Amino acid sequence: MDIRENVDLSAYSTMRLGGKARYLAEADSETKVKNLVNWARQRSLPVVMIGEGSNIVWRDEGYEGLIIVNKIPGIKVLSEDNDSLTLQAGAGEIWDKVVEWSVKKDLSGIEFLSRIPGCVGGAPVQNIGAYGAELGSVLVELEAYDTNLNKFVTLASKDCAFAYRTSRFKTVDKGRFLITAITLRLIKANPKPPFYESLQLYLDEHKIRNYTPKNIRQAVTEIRKIKLPDPSVVANNGSFFTNPIISHAEFERLQKKYPDIRGWPAPHQNLSGAVGNRIAERQVFGAGPRDDGRVKISAGWMVEQAGFKDVHDQQTGMGTWWGSALVMINEKAKTTADLLAFKQKIVAKVYEMFGIMLEQEPELLP
Ligand code: EPU
Repeated sequence: MDIRENVDLSAYSTMRLGGKARYLAEADSETKVKNLVNWARQRSLPVVMIGEGSNIVWRDEGYEGLIIVNKIPGIKVLSEDNDSLTLQAGAGEIWDKVVEWSVKKDLSGIEFLSRIPGCVGGAPVQNIGAYGAELGSVLVELEAYDTNLNKFVTLASKDCAFAYRTSRFKTVDKGRFLITAITLRLIKANPKPPFYESLQLYLDEHKIRNYTPKNIRQAVTEIRKIKLPDPSVVANNGSFFTNPIISHAEFERLQKKYPDIRGWPAPHQNLSGAVGNRIAERQVFGAGPRDDGRVKISAGWMVEQAGFKDVHDQQTGMGTWWGSALVMINEKAKTTADLLAFKQKIVAKVYEMFGIMLEQEPELLP
């Protein structure tokens, strides 16, 4: 086993910050995962599994344990019928390669999730979502090493507690499961509108009326190019805050003070997933028949109103992206303390103006 010692973690987060890992090793098979977990257990060391580090903020203290970098490859077809195809992808595979593969085969289900950075294994952790689609709605099951039971297990989608940008892997069972593969069911049909507002606008502006998975992927790619910096060029973790979900009463209170505030009916708990979100996110609050009182409001809009769009903070070396205030960027920060200090400036100002406490989206590990 090739286990490295005292490894600089900034190379393992697209925010490029963090201390050192006591030990770090790559695993390209389930057997290697198991052997590495056993190695750590014999030394009473904790274990964390990561992919590309696209959604990870490491602490300056580093990690006094073993980090396993998931490199398990592969995309294979498990079954296929007239209407759908079920595939399994190794957790170390680059997520966008799986999307590209599916779109080439004219399959629908994950084309809205095009160009999301990172690996397959990270996708279920924060239930990746974009343009009205969420991983949770196409995921059938996943394979993981359960560090409580010391064996590989299969978890069905309904047992993953998927919700907006979260799952059991990020909450109650944080750190327990080392995800090694996911199974997705994709359909052999074109996606149907209603689509997410900005996506529909793009399609209309470009006179694209043939809603094929390929056309949707191309549109999402173009929109993302403007809104989100490429992490290989500009250090960032994508959206740094989640969009808060608040009560109707609170939304009305905010609307009185800020008539331009944007809100969408938050999806019903039992209607989560692609269709529920697509309907919810398309309708500006009040226009829809399905509102259950909860409203999802735009964190990006609030951060922009708070004066933090295209900001370059000299004190911390951090900033926000010109195309979206929701994306924090590391321009020349040296430590995670710098990042947290800049984040605090944003959180405090937004709280002062709106009375809303923003929550961090990327995981602060361990
Ligand atoms: N907005 C602003 N100013 C900004 C950014 C956004 O006013 O600086 C407004 C927009 O005008 C729009 C609303 O906020 O009215 C929503 O903006 P957008 O559609 O760009 O989406 P978002 O809320 O900024 C979310 C996801 C993204 C995802 C997009 C598209 C979260 C935390 N973020 O961003 O996901 O790509 O929707 O579906 O839910 C990520 O998680 O890393 C990520 C990039």
